[in-house]
Amino acid sequence: MRGVRIAPSVLSADLGRLAEAIAGVTEGGASWIHVDVMDGQFVPNLTFGTPLIRALRRLTTLPLDVHLMVQRPERFIEEYADLGVSVFTIHPEATIHLQRHLDRIKTAGMMAGLALNPSTPVALLDEVWTDIDLALVMSVNPGFAGQSFLRSSLEKIRRLRAHAAQAGVDPIVEIDGGITPETIGEAHRAGADTFVAGTAVFGTDDPANAVRTLTRACSAQV
Ligand code: DX5
Ligand code: ZN
Repeated sequence: MRGVRIAPSVLSADLGRLAEAIAGVTEGGASWIHVDVMDGQFVPNLTFGTPLIRALRRLTTLPLDVHLMVQRPERFIEEYADLGVSVFTIHPEATIHLQRHLDRIKTAGMMAGLALNPSTPVALLDEVWTDIDLALVMSVNPGFAGQSFLRSSLEKIRRLRAHAAQAGVDPIVEIDGGITPETIGEAHRAGADTFVAGTAVFGTDDPANAVRTLTRACSAQV
């Protein structure tokens, strides 16, 4: 069985108590901090960008896993690399010259991630396997925390793993949206190794314990 990486999403954290939120999930064993950058164009919601990433970089040594739900995300590649971002994940629909920008992300020293919306086909990855480090399967339509897990994403992860094996690559496979102690085990068994969780972590009274519960639920037998 693959390792487990929990990436709490600060979208659901109390931004007025950000330091406390980060300290809690770090104590619980979080591996990455997931940052949802939205522009109100690519998705119908507007969140945060450079100032919050800069604040997070000062607050934690955990890798920052930045998920850009913005049009033309390539505008931020070098800036985010300079800020110390580790993972830069973009959506194929948001940019025209995808391969060029994935290459630029790597050249800037970050891991390149490609996010697939529920309607985006896995086969797209076959064109860019060598250009990416991570595939992000959206298990909700992006834009908001607290949505229900789309079960079709499980079969999608299995297909994605089969395509990757066929291509002879072994990317990080991250899943994002509706991850809870009830859904995380199936997603892990389907082949995901990195789990974004917003509501299931920061929507609880004890985020540290929520991270531990999610980690444990991955290895629970069914
Ligand atoms: C949704 C974002 C997610 C969101 C997940 O568009 O990409 O990262 O924060 O939130 P939950 O875990 O509540 O579905
Ligand atoms: Zn996200």
